[in-house]
Amino acid sequence: MLPFHKHKRSHFREEFKTLNDIFDLTSEQTVWKLIKQGVIEGLEGPLSIGKEANVFLAITKDDERRVVKMYRVTTCDFNKMYAYIAADPRFPSVHKNRRQVVSAWCQREFRNLLKAREAGCRVPTPFAALNNVLVMEFIGDESASQKVHTEAPAHPKTFFDQVVKNMQLLHKAGLVHGDLSQFNILNCDEEPVLIDFSQTTTRENPNFEEYLARDIKNVAAYFVKLGVKTSEERLRKKIMVE
Ligand SMILES: Nc1ncnc2c1ncn2[C@@H]1O[C@H](COP(=O)(O)OP(=O)(O)OP(=O)(O)O)[C@@H](O)[C@H]1O
Ligand SMILES: [Mg+2]
Repeated sequence: MLPFHKHKRSHFREEFKTLNDIFDLTSEQTVWKLIKQGVIEGLEGPLSIGKEANVFLAITKDDERRVVKMYRVTTCDFNKMYAYIAADPRFPSVHKNRRQVVSAWCQREFRNLLKAREAGCRVPTPFAALNNVLVMEFIGDESASQKVHTEAPAHPKTFFDQVVKNMQLLHKAGLVHGDLSQFNILNCDEEPVLIDFSQTTTRENPNFEEYLARDIKNVAAYFVKLGVKTSEERLRKKIMVE
């Protein structure tokens, strides 16, 4: 496949259609706008077609790689998304409108990534969020880093300690990831990089404790399976350390 940026507008549309299982005109226009703004020069190909979003590899003018996460508008779990957004005090005026909710969802991931990064947590740096499309740092070298679920750490205890450190930093900054597990931690050359921050929320959210308990449960269960001596209680204590 030719890189998109080698194409004219009409060709871009055709290539875009072949990449997306469900074609959405607004998503295509949004990506085109990001190209016009110089955020990216073009899309290179798909990285992951998930339940919530289609994730693509993109390239900038300076030949740097980027990741483009395109939230699905027509086939998302809209009611679940609305419930999460409505519970977040940072988004008080979102109406129950599909496009608005997905856009808020995308903005929320952008903001959460920035906050997590400011807190010192290892996450992809976000570069832009427009409508339902998020542009962020590419995690990987030759190829994209794999989730720890697919590529388990070589030294589980060392890796676990780094995950704990990241969880501590998030907690200190008043944040909870909300969907942390082996599916949302990348193994970047034996360093954990936390991804997928769309559900991340602040302490003011009434569901904060529930999300924290779930993250602790998932992370503890995964690393216990890898032979690390920990438990939910021990992990919780470590995260709370100031
Ligand atoms: N910044 C990144 N660098 C490299 N790969 C990434 C990056 N962000 C996402 N990915 C890849 O895309 C996949 C999906 O990303 P993400 O978890 O954010 O979306 P999702 O909608 O939750 O998808 P899924 O339903 O597959 O979990 C990741 O598991 C990872 O393989
Ligand atoms: Mg995910």
